[in-house]
Amino acid sequence: MHHMSLIEENIIMAPFTTLGVGGPARYFARASSVEDIKDIVKFAKRKKTPLIPIGGGSNILVSDEGVQGMVVKMEIPGISFNNEEKDSILMKVFAGEDWDKVVERSVSAGLYGLENLSGIPGTAGAAPVQNIGAYGVEISGLVFEVEVYDAKEEKFTVFKNEECSFGYRESIFKNSPGRFLITSVIMKLSKRPYFVSDYKDISERMSSGNYSQDGAGMREMVLDIRSKKFPDEEGTGSVGSFFKNPVLSSDDLQKVKMKFPDIPFYPHGSGYFKVPLAWILDKLLKVRGLRHGNVGLFDSQPLVLVAYNGATQKEIFAFAEEIKKGVKDATGIEVDYEVKLLS
Ligand code: EPU
Repeated sequence: MHHMSLIEENIIMAPFTTLGVGGPARYFARASSVEDIKDIVKFAKRKKTPLIPIGGGSNILVSDEGVQGMVVKMEIPGISFNNEEKDSILMKVFAGEDWDKVVERSVSAGLYGLENLSGIPGTAGAAPVQNIGAYGVEISGLVFEVEVYDAKEEKFTVFKNEECSFGYRESIFKNSPGRFLITSVIMKLSKRPYFVSDYKDISERMSSGNYSQDGAGMREMVLDIRSKKFPDEEGTGSVGSFFKNPVLSSDDLQKVKMKFPDIPFYPHGSGYFKVPLAWILDKLLKVRGLRHGNVGLFDSQPLVLVAYNGATQKEIFAFAEEIKKGVKDATGIEVDYEVKLLS
């Protein structure tokens, strides 16, 4: 039971989030091994308090009043390779590894698959939860298995890719909060070169001839694109995209197109279309770079909400709701948050 000394009380969450906002967690613990997890889960059950796993805190908005629960910061380290075949290899990464370090390791090992997901903040264990995606690649396309601790059944278990219910920024892990604590992610990566380069920002740079024709070149390209689209100044916080891009049925898309014939759209599964919310915010609402008090929308990517020094959760939430209402009033489109609200 010496592990119980891991558990702290009333720990301010702001420093554990990239927005830099949030009050105290009733209970807080760092899990640096799978054994820690078992103890933490037992403790939370005894206290009848919900489990709230976090990684890098780059996709959460924590309430100013704090969280009534047991926040578990997943810090389990480790990266290993196995099941090498002619064309592929399995890369197993434990939950606490920094995501971009994982991408860097895979690229420097000469493996293909993850390079388009370079520069995404957060941890490996958080990556499948919201099915991270960028530049035409989603982690769901590379996941072989996800290993978890099932807090309800109190046992370790494995989800095969098809069992993860992956969707656009969705998974079974996101939809059963506090039940599955991801301990490691196993990805199948390619030893043979291949590139996903249909995304406009990528194809433009590919033809520039300024990058090497390998995984490292692709990674550099993505990091260059991202460095212009996301804030990196001191004293500003963000969670990448704060909002999801809306997915519309073809009927709903037709309605919107009648009013706004220029609206861009991309096929998203059969009969559905994804529209870039950044375009709506920029071209229709003209709120790119808008700032109210300590909260604003980033100038070069309005999907990114920026929290300046001193911002509170209430201020951020009120601002986000205002943006949501603006989109609804102008287009009839209902916007969802990508960020997870914790209270
Ligand atoms: N656009 C504008 N004005 C702007 C910016 C963008 O009109 O100021 C329009 C352009 O038409 C552009 C389009 O919006 O082509 C799409 O913009 P972008 O390529 O930046 O991608 P996004 O759809 O806004 C999504 C993901 C990002 C991911 C990028 C790149 C979501 C919610 N966001 O953004 O993911 O990096 O694609 O693939 O799906 C994240 O999830 O946190 C995230 C950053």
